[in-house]
Amino acid sequence: TTVYVPRDSAARSVGSDEVAAALAQDPALRVVRNGSRGMFWLEPLVEVETPAGRIGYGPVAPSDVDGLRPLLATGDVTHPLYVGRVEELPWLAGQQRVTFARMGVTDPLSTQDYVAHGGLVGLRAALRRTQAEVVAEVTASGLRGRGGAGFPAGVKWKTVLDCPEGLKFVCCNADEGDSGTFADRMVLEGDPFMLIEGMTIAAWAVGAREGYVYIRSEYPDAVQTMRAAIDLARAEGWLGERVLGSAFAFDLHVRVGAGAYICGEETSMLESLEGKRGTVRAKPPIPAIEGLFGRPTVVNNVLTLATVPVILADGAEHYAALGMDRSRGTQVFQLGGNVKRGGIVETAFGMTLRELVESYGGGTLTGRPVRAVQAGGPLGAYLPESRFDLPLEYEAFAAAGAMLGHGGVVVFDDTVDMAAMARFAMEFCAEESCGKCTPCRVGAVRGVEVIDRIVAGERPDENLALLEDLCELMTDGSLCAMGGLTPMPVRSAVAFFPDDFLSRKP
Ligand code: NAI
Ligand code: SF4
Repeated sequence: TTVYVPRDSAARSVGSDEVAAALAQDPALRVVRNGSRGMFWLEPLVEVETPAGRIGYGPVAPSDVDGLRPLLATGDVTHPLYVGRVEELPWLAGQQRVTFARMGVTDPLSTQDYVAHGGLVGLRAALRRTQAEVVAEVTASGLRGRGGAGFPAGVKWKTVLDCPEGLKFVCCNADEGDSGTFADRMVLEGDPFMLIEGMTIAAWAVGAREGYVYIRSEYPDAVQTMRAAIDLARAEGWLGERVLGSAFAFDLHVRVGAGAYICGEETSMLESLEGKRGTVRAKPPIPAIEGLFGRPTVVNNVLTLATVPVILADGAEHYAALGMDRSRGTQVFQLGGNVKRGGIVETAFGMTLRELVESYGGGTLTGRPVRAVQAGGPLGAYLPESRFDLPLEYEAFAAAGAMLGHGGVVVFDDTVDMAAMARFAMEFCAEESCGKCTPCRVGAVRGVEVIDRIVAGERPDENLALLEDLCELMTDGSLCAMGGLTPMPVRSAVAFFPDDFLSRKP
C-alpha cells in the first residue's frame, strides 16, 4: 500500500516527519513524501492510495499511527481522523487548481511523477515555436505579474526579447516576504520542476542562457529542495547545454538572501544577486533593459513563472477564459491569520472576499466575529466587513484603495486594535526601509511617533491631519513601494476603524 505524508515545511512544523517515520516502520507500506494540498488544518494529512482514489486521515499525530495502520489498507470510514476522498473534499473540489494542479499529488523530487502528471509538455511546446511566438502566447494569456504589481508578463518578456542579442538573464524572485503569504514557498518545496520549466521557457523566449532563483534565507527547506531539483533536472537533460536535446542551452542557480524584506523589491534583489547590499535602484532604467550586471533581465515572481508551463501546454485561450475583466486566469490565494481553515485557495479571479473568508476560511479560529482582513501583505489595506463583497480582482481592489498584492489574506477577529496595526505598519517600514530616500527612512519613524501621540490623546485632530499629510508625502515621494505603500494600511485603518484611534482620549 502506498501512503503519502507531506514534506512541505508547514506539515513538517506540525510533525509530518515523525508521522512518516512511524509509518515507515511497517514494511507493507510504501511511504511517499508528497507536497502539501494546502489544507493546513488537516496537516499532517496522511493519504492512502486505494482503488477508489486517495483517502485522507488528518491531522495525524505520531501517536495515532499505531491505531491507523490496520485501517490503511481498507480505508476504514469509522476512524475519527478519516476525512474521505481527498479530491472530493468540498474545500478542494470547489477550487480551480491550474498552477497548483500537481500540488500535494506528486513527490516533488520525482522526475517520473512530474512527467506523468503533465510536466514538460509546456517546455516541449515552447521549443517547437519561435521566441516571438512564445512571448505572444504569454501575452495573449493575459498573465500578469503575481508578485503583486500585476504588470503583464508578456509585455515584460517582449521588452527583454527586443533588446539586442547578447548576455541576458532570467531571475526568479522567491524572496516571499509578505506577511501571510506562502504560495511561493509551496512551489519551491512542493513542485520545483514546474518553476524550472517556467524559467526555461522564459529563457528560451527572451534569449537568456542563465537564470537565478533568489530565495529568502527563512526558507531553508525550499532552498534545499530547489537545489536538489536543479541537480536532478540537469541530470535528466532538462537543463544544461542541450535542453531536452535541442540546441538551446540554459542553466540555473540558487542564491539565498540574508533576511531583508526590501530584497523582494526587484532592483534590491538584483543588487543582492550581484553581491552588494540590497538597496533600491532608481527606475528607469527598468531591469528588463538594464537588470542583472546591467544586462536585459526578466524578473518575475515564482507564481508567474510557475504558471507559464500550463499556459504553453494548454494554450493561451484556455487560461484567458478564466477570470474577470483584465485579471485573467487564476490566483493562488493564501488564507491565514485568525481563521478556522487556512491554506491555499486557487480560483479564477472574481470570487468575493466574503466567499474566501467565510466559505473557505469558515470564519475565525477563535469563533469571534471577523472584524478586518488585510489583503496584499503588510503594505495592503485593512478592509472591514462592509467591503467583503469586493471581487478578488486587481482593478476592483485598486478602485477601493486596496490591493491584491501577492494574494495573501490575513483575518483578524474583533479583539484587534487597528491603531496598533497602523502603528505596526509604520514600525515595519522603519525597520525594513533600505534608507535610500527620506520620505520612507524618516517618514516611517515620524509615523510611529505621530500615531503614538494620537493614541495618547494628544491633540488628536491636529495629529490625525499631520498623519494624513505624512501619508501623502510618503505615497508621492518614496522611491519604491516600501515607503510608497506603507500609507495604505495606515490610511485604511484610520478610514474604516476611526474609533480605535480616538476612543482612548483622556
Ligand atoms: P512596478 O509597477 O514598478 O513594476 C512592476 C513590474 O513591471 C516590474 O518588474 C517593472 O520592472 C516592470 N515594468 C514596468 N514598466 C515596464 C515596461 N514598460 N516594460 C517592461 N517591464 C516594465 O511595481 P514594483 O515596485 O516592482 O512592485 C510593487 C508591488 O510589489 C506592490 O504592488 C506590491 O503588491 C508588491 N509587493 C510584493 C511583495 C511580495 O512579498 N511578493 C512584498 C512587497 C510588495
Ligand atoms: Fe529605500 Fe524606502 Fe526609499 Fe524604497 S521607499 S528606496 S525602501 S528608503
